[in-house]
Amino acid sequence: MVDVSLDNLDAVVAQCVGAISDASSLDSLLSLEAEMVGKRSPFTALQKSLGSLSPDERKSAGAQLQAARQRVEEAFATRRTSLAAEHRIAVLEADRLDLGDVVSARVRVPVRAGHPGIISLTQESLEDTFVGMGFVVADGPEIETDWYNFEALNIPPAHPARGMWDTFYLDIGEPETVLLRTHTSPTQIHLMEEAVAQGTLPLHAVMPGRCYRRDTPDARHLASFHQIEGLVVDEGITFADLAGTIETFTRAFFGPDITSRLRPAYFPFTEPSAEFEITCTICRGAGCRTCSQTGWIELGGCGMVDPAVFAAVGIDTDRYSGFAFGFGIDRCAQMRHGIADMRAITENDVRFLELFS
Ligand code: PHE
Repeated sequence: MVDVSLDNLDAVVAQCVGAISDASSLDSLLSLEAEMVGKRSPFTALQKSLGSLSPDERKSAGAQLQAARQRVEEAFATRRTSLAAEHRIAVLEADRLDLGDVVSARVRVPVRAGHPGIISLTQESLEDTFVGMGFVVADGPEIETDWYNFEALNIPPAHPARGMWDTFYLDIGEPETVLLRTHTSPTQIHLMEEAVAQGTLPLHAVMPGRCYRRDTPDARHLASFHQIEGLVVDEGITFADLAGTIETFTRAFFGPDITSRLRPAYFPFTEPSAEFEITCTICRGAGCRTCSQTGWIELGGCGMVDPAVFAAVGIDTDRYSGFAFGFGIDRCAQMRHGIADMRAITENDVRFLELFS
């Protein structure tokens, strides 16, 4: 450091302030401090030399020197505060736990996210198709009474037609009065009762849901399966409306090269009744093992709502007529995706589940 005299005080202060603000650590600041304003510093030496001056000169030189020294000391204080702050930040930075690394390491592990299964997907797209045709979607309970599942549907107790549905009964109340619904048709009854009570007829609804039958599972049947029911109750509804609805749905859902046909059948709750079949989607109608060489696959049942059913819910048959249909959602999924064995649906083999994401 240059010698300090009263003549170069300003220049020396400027030099000191520059060096102080360049100091990069608290340690180097400490040694600068000793060097510039410590006991053996030129400032101190100059101060000591003031003793030889006359009292007046000493007074003014002393004040000058004091002011210069103060500016240097202020520069030290400022720099010390900012170096201390930088030091604190550096310590915090070093201490910081970088969760970003931890998180991205975890995310890199392949995540096997779940997704709706093939039956839910099929149900959703069936609903979409019918909504596009002007139907609303409704649902009903899986646990039913004998009245909703059978009696109101024109199947009295001990009627031979009950043999069409192998029923799981629940051990609640009187024997054989509470059961797991064997089809979605009881939801028709709930909907019609509600519409009559609230005066909201006509009805154009589809009702998807789970059903149960005491069946031994095989390649085409499960004891727990899904149906979608359709019901239209309005003025002037005819069998042509039913046939047109089935055909429109078939082409919309399966594609324009798949068609439908109705064949006479019997259901207690519809009259006349029909089975509805669609072109086999495996062979496109040419005939194969799946369709027993017929080119057709049975999808479900349908017909005009039987007057006895309208009577059970109090609908005036002079004014209203209607049609209903019901078919298997699982069967639709099987037909659309060529699933050879339906038991794959309940086995939860991830390799199967992943096919339909
Ligand atoms: N519920 C009948 C069944 O499960 C299908 C059906 C519904 C038939 C509506 C006619 C009308 O077999």
